[in-house]
Amino acid sequence: MIVLVGFMGAGKTTVGRILAGRLGLPFVDSDLAIEQRLGRPVRQVFETDGEAFFREVEHATIRDLLQGPDAVVALGGGALGDARTRAALGDATVVYLEVSFAGAVERVGGDRGRPMLHRPGLEELHAERVAAYRDAASITVDTGGRTPPAVADELLRLLTAD
Ligand code: S3P
Repeated sequence: MIVLVGFMGAGKTTVGRILAGRLGLPFVDSDLAIEQRLGRPVRQVFETDGEAFFREVEHATIRDLLQGPDAVVALGGGALGDARTRAALGDATVVYLEVSFAGAVERVGGDRGRPMLHRPGLEELHAERVAAYRDAASITVDTGGRTPPAVADELLRLLTAD
């Protein structure tokens, strides 16, 4: 199991899809799995049920994905905030796609589908999460100034060098 972590805008979904294609594995995105489970978009779940509810469903969804068939799994940027999710990573290969705060804002800053982007204290949140991503990951790739296919190439090289 290959698990991609990182802040919003790191390119987890785009890179994950490319990587999965190259490895011949299925690709799963935790946000899409949550949307399928609940039948509505993440933005709406935040609006109608609140973040705490989203985080519960997020944990349960990721736990199920990690117990499922081998895949490349991209986690939502806040997923590692849950200690149970961190513990559930087990022996998965965790990859941290690094993006600076400025880089993240440049890539996804205006996206209304990502409710966390519009919270105050976003830069502090980025700084706090970086520690959790680093802690969980065995491989880190800097995505700054690189296209998603180039990031996927680098990752493939690092994964096969293991
Ligand atoms: C979130 C990131 C989003 C999504 C939700 C909350 C966060 O995923 O899970 O909007 O707390 O950073 P992406 O990292 O794929 O944007």
